[in-house]
Amino acid sequence: MRQKIVAGNWKMHKNAEETEDLLNELIDKIPTDIEQRVIVAPTFVNLSAAADHLEFTNIEVAAQNMHQAEGGAFTGEISASMLKSVGINIVILGHSERRAYFHETDALLANKVDTALKHEMEVIFCFGEELKDRQSGQHFNVVENQLKDGLFHLEASAWKNIILAYEPVWAIGTGETASPDQAQEMHDFIRDTINKKYGNAVSEDVSILYGGSVKPENAAEIFSKPDVDGGLIGGAALKSEDFTKIVLAI
Ligand code: G3H
Repeated sequence: MRQKIVAGNWKMHKNAEETEDLLNELIDKIPTDIEQRVIVAPTFVNLSAAADHLEFTNIEVAAQNMHQAEGGAFTGEISASMLKSVGINIVILGHSERRAYFHETDALLANKVDTALKHEMEVIFCFGEELKDRQSGQHFNVVENQLKDGLFHLEASAWKNIILAYEPVWAIGTGETASPDQAQEMHDFIRDTINKKYGNAVSEDVSILYGGSVKPENAAEIFSKPDVDGGLIGGAALKSEDFTKIVLAI
């Protein structure tokens, strides 16, 4: 069953006190009886406290990244089992900032996905074209390749733990969002590509989130598109008023 999901990626924002404050505001503002899933992704150092704080609420917690190895001499890295041990069952992988600044490749991401799934985590898998790809008309090819290289080695049954987040890089943090029609066009293409490989059961069930300058003002129109199942929100997730409005716009 396809789920509606709004996830907030806090990136490298909010210290411990600010994290607690924002979580308290979200607990106050977000109704408990809504059907859509609400996920927040604070920084690593605040994940454990956030998971404890949100334990009896309808707000879930995700990590923004993790290492592909089970453990070992990887200074500064965090493993899946460490995340699981503090109550984190969801991880964002493949964000464009990880791809661009930390050189994460599709092959590495395929590896990370495998590790996360092995630990029975849900993966929010991010992908999307750069501005140059769209300008040269290569955006469908680029997105198709990211999808295939990162995820198409999976068995159909593994897809129940995959959430997709299409994020055109040119729309992230720029204030320039893809138009609702551009988002729908790409989400439809993504679902169709999955359908060709796995069939209807997988392609119709997978949630595809849109990310890139989603705000309270544009969320409802983007979410109204039939193949847009929610959003991955950056800047607007840092203010409880804005994030709540986006959650309720679905
Ligand atoms: O992970 C979230 C995306 O990068 C979107 O960020 O809403 O600030 O454009 P943004």
